[in-house]
Amino acid sequence: MDRTRATDHVFPLLVLIPFFVVAVEANIQEYVPMKILMHEWNIRPTSWVGSDPCGDGSWEGITCTNSHVTSIALADMALTGSLPSDIELLSELEVLNLSFNRGLKGPLPASIGKLTKLVYLNLVGCSFFGRIPDTMGSLKQLSYLSLKNNSFSGQIPPSIGNMTNLSFLDLSDNQLQGSIPVSNRTAPGLDMLHKARHFHFQNNQLSGTIPPRLFSSQMVLLHVIFDRNNLTGAIPSTLGLVQALQAVILDRNSLNGSVPSSLNNLTKLVHLHLSNNQLTGPMPNLTSLNGLNYVDMSNNTFAATDVPTWFSTLQNLTTLMMENTGLQGEVPPALFSLSSLETVLLRNNKINGLLNLGTISSNHLQLIDLEKNFITDLIQSDGGSNYTLILVDNPICEATYMTNNNCTVSPTSSPILPPPSNCAPVACSPGQVSSPHCKCAYPYTRTLNFIFVSFSNLGNFRYFTALQDSLLETLQSYNLPVDSVAVSNPSWDSSYHLKLYIEIFPAGQDRFNKTGSSAIASMISNQTLVGAHPSYYGPFSFFSPFDNPKSGGSSKGLIIGAAVGGSALVLLLALLGFYALHQKRQANDQWSRSMPLTRTYCSASSPDLKGARLFSFEELRKYSNGFSDANDVGSGGYGKVYRGVLPTGQMVAIKRSNRESMQEGPEFKAEVELLSRVHHKNLVSLVGFCLEQGEQILVYEYVPNGDLFGSLSGRSGIRLDWMRRLKVILGTARGLAYLHEHANPPIIHRDIKSNNILLDKDLTAKVADFGLSKSMSDSGTNHISTQVRGTMGYLDPEYYMTQQLTEKSDVYSFGVVMLELITARRPIEQGKYIVRVVQMAIDKTKSLYNLHQVLDPAMGLGTDLKGLEIFVDLAMLCVEEQQDKRPRMGEVVKEIENIMQLAGLNTGDQSASSSPSYDYTSIDGLLPSSRQPSS
Ligand SMILES: *[C@@H]1O[C@H](CO)[C@@H](O)[C@H](O)[C@H]1NC(C)=O
Ligand SMILES: *[C@@H]1O[C@H](CO)[C@@H](O)[C@H](O)[C@H]1NC(C)=O
Ligand SMILES: *[C@@H]1O[C@H](CO)[C@@H](O)[C@H](O)[C@H]1NC(C)=O
Ligand SMILES: *[C@@H]1O[C@H](CO)[C@@H](O)[C@H](O)[C@H]1NC(C)=O
Ligand SMILES: *[C@@H]1O[C@H](CO)[C@@H](O)[C@H](O)[C@H]1NC(C)=O
Ligand SMILES: *[C@@H]1O[C@H](CO)[C@@H](O)[C@H](O)[C@H]1NC(C)=O
Repeated sequence: MDRTRATDHVFPLLVLIPFFVVAVEANIQEYVPMKILMHEWNIRPTSWVGSDPCGDGSWEGITCTNSHVTSIALADMALTGSLPSDIELLSELEVLNLSFNRGLKGPLPASIGKLTKLVYLNLVGCSFFGRIPDTMGSLKQLSYLSLKNNSFSGQIPPSIGNMTNLSFLDLSDNQLQGSIPVSNRTAPGLDMLHKARHFHFQNNQLSGTIPPRLFSSQMVLLHVIFDRNNLTGAIPSTLGLVQALQAVILDRNSLNGSVPSSLNNLTKLVHLHLSNNQLTGPMPNLTSLNGLNYVDMSNNTFAATDVPTWFSTLQNLTTLMMENTGLQGEVPPALFSLSSLETVLLRNNKINGLLNLGTISSNHLQLIDLEKNFITDLIQSDGGSNYTLILVDNPICEATYMTNNNCTVSPTSSPILPPPSNCAPVACSPGQVSSPHCKCAYPYTRTLNFIFVSFSNLGNFRYFTALQDSLLETLQSYNLPVDSVAVSNPSWDSSYHLKLYIEIFPAGQDRFNKTGSSAIASMISNQTLVGAHPSYYGPFSFFSPFDNPKSGGSSKGLIIGAAVGGSALVLLLALLGFYALHQKRQANDQWSRSMPLTRTYCSASSPDLKGARLFSFEELRKYSNGFSDANDVGSGGYGKVYRGVLPTGQMVAIKRSNRESMQEGPEFKAEVELLSRVHHKNLVSLVGFCLEQGEQILVYEYVPNGDLFGSLSGRSGIRLDWMRRLKVILGTARGLAYLHEHANPPIIHRDIKSNNILLDKDLTAKVADFGLSKSMSDSGTNHISTQVRGTMGYLDPEYYMTQQLTEKSDVYSFGVVMLELITARRPIEQGKYIVRVVQMAIDKTKSLYNLHQVLDPAMGLGTDLKGLEIFVDLAMLCVEEQQDKRPRMGEVVKEIENIMQLAGLNTGDQSASSSPSYDYTSIDGLLPSSRQPSS
């Protein structure tokens, strides 16, 4: 076989003889194989002139040591053709990186085994096919071998076990078959690779069992990635001997048997993916895996198991994927108090009884999915405004108004915002893109696909800034002229792999030249990042815009034809001509593809301010006494709220978003814009804001008595009697009526709940939190079609069904608050929905409608609750299922005023008249928002 391949080169050698004439005096030993490569690959970088690749006119992509070619790095150079067996002539070669040249095809020549000095061989993303040659085993120095994403078939050659210096072995995304070879008395095997840190074999057709012999305590493997193969049998317990393991990725095979208990030995494990196999036996005990971030065991056939205790003890867990795993019993509330938790997927199990979400302490929780279980009760003490809770197909759904499998509430969106920048927006000419530094350029763009990541909340921008920083740092460590890196459009594919779009912007030029982009591709082909948080990301593959195997291949016939018919000059011209043509086509292709992705980097973050004052960060730091803990009056997912004093003496509440929650950018903008154009006594007023240095800060008037929820629950220390409750609800109604009927254009608040109604020093209600509000301006109709947002329990069912938002949705939520006001119950408590509870309890023939059982005793039930019946009637009208049966807010205001007159209370401006007689229990924790003080 070696012989027949060698004869192939007689022809190009003959053709190239005229070149040798000029090369005689030069380094002919290296020149011959380089010329062969040039001819074979149909390409000639413009710098490849002269007769000595190691001469002073240094050839791009070629590195020499002592007049010998030691490195060929030609990633993403649109090379075509095959790897000639004459490559063996470059006997001093240490580095060969031909990655991302889709036009390179054919089998790997057996002669590659003669390159015994080779340390690094990277052929990712080419189109090589055939068997991996056995001779590879002779590459004893090889430390890095990546054949990822080609079309190799046949078995993994056992001889690879002879490459005892191998650290990185990536054979993924091919069509390899057969079993994983291990050594025996007659043959080497992969178990001998004691220096290997990476076994990446995913997405092949490997079959047979994973040999227990493959793993031993001498191994130093970090990543075992075997997913998407046809592996059968049990997971070998010897896996537990490889103490360094950080990632065990075995999903989407046909593995069976029970999970070996020795996995619990792998205390460094961060990623465990065993999903979509046929594993049996009990759910394993993973108590010791304290570093675990992401665990997926979904879709196995485990025996029915009670929810294991380790669910709630693994402190670093971000993602728990346990769909269809036979789990039963109740979920311990402690699970939801894990501080890094992002996703809990428990679909399709037999979880039953009470779902107590306890105290949620993670700022980044985005999803709790319990679809298809047997949950009957729910305790959700935080009101659930920050994450999606799915309870479809549980008995509890029949207990609430959200029947018909609609038991899902998605509260806030998680849009990805580019990092805030301080530069002025620029308009770029077509094809160019504005960089994070607001300069127009043609970026180098790719889609990266990560095999695993340590997180699951794509709304958390921290992960993407970390990747931007790592990529930038990695590129700059290679001395590449890179200005900045932008990461966008994250999404999951069907196998839960993360896809991301990256743009790399050049520095000091408007696009990378061929050398620059090739160097970037080389760097990316390593799959290794340096920098701040590389641990978020596992290895990745890379999709080139010209990742199209059919491009480039057809030209070879043309060139050979020209060579046969003419002189070397014709060949040279043809080569150059083709090269130029090819370059142009590739370039057009690249730029046209990047065009549709319009970006609005810098303009996205500057709100349209009318009236609100722009503070500098320094000013706010001063007013809040350096954001001191003493001034910290509350915190939540968005960040912290500080009390501050302006030089005028005015007290303000300073809401400072933490970096992690910057994704609330659109909400930030919406809130600034809305609040700066509405002014009403019953709406919290915006004093100003600050948007600089990666900070998003809102400055409000200071509202000292916390929120209505805090008062109703007794947490704030304010006692609310019937009169005070009426006053609070009237203020709220007036604020809402103003938004609906007097603001121009009208505004729908969309998140009316007791947590968003703040109480002033004299208990004047102030509606707050306009992050979800919608202005009616942009629609000609009387509704807006929009993705459903809001808080479970307060959400208008008709809006929920039709996604059509009108003012009446706020009326519904307001009705729920009215019921909350008289019962002091959460809208959904112990699985019971407040509207149903009151409805069922009403007996209109009795006094107080016979509601004594459900009314809040703190109202003073012994006293005369004048007008309570009318109040209840009004509330029930507000929570009518059909929007057109509900009153308008203006009507609600009038009715409450009537009730107050009946009750003998002045409905005018009470801020001065009646407040002095109130004796509020004085409180110190002054809450401008819904959160309790941290003290
Ligand atoms: C592996 O290496 C050993 C010792 O160097 C040698 O004897 C053997 O033939 C090699 N096997 C293969 C398959 O390359
Ligand atoms: C040893 O392993 C090689 C390849 O992995 C296999 O072909 C051979 O049959 C094995 N020999 C014995 C004795 O098991
Ligand atoms: C691997 O499994 C897939 C899906 O079960 C099947 O379609 C394919 O034929 C199998 N391949 C081999 C080589 O067994
Ligand atoms: C690993 O786990 C097994 C069983 O759980 C245990 O017997 C063994 O001692 C452990 N080995 C190490 C190295 O910790
Ligand atoms: C799980 O393992 C830990 C330590 O390895 C042990 O203390 C604990 O009792 C085990 N739990 C169960 C339920 O077996
Ligand atoms: C479990 O299997 C179902 C059905 O094949 C699939 O839709 C779902 O994505 C799988 N879940 C996970 C977490 O892999």
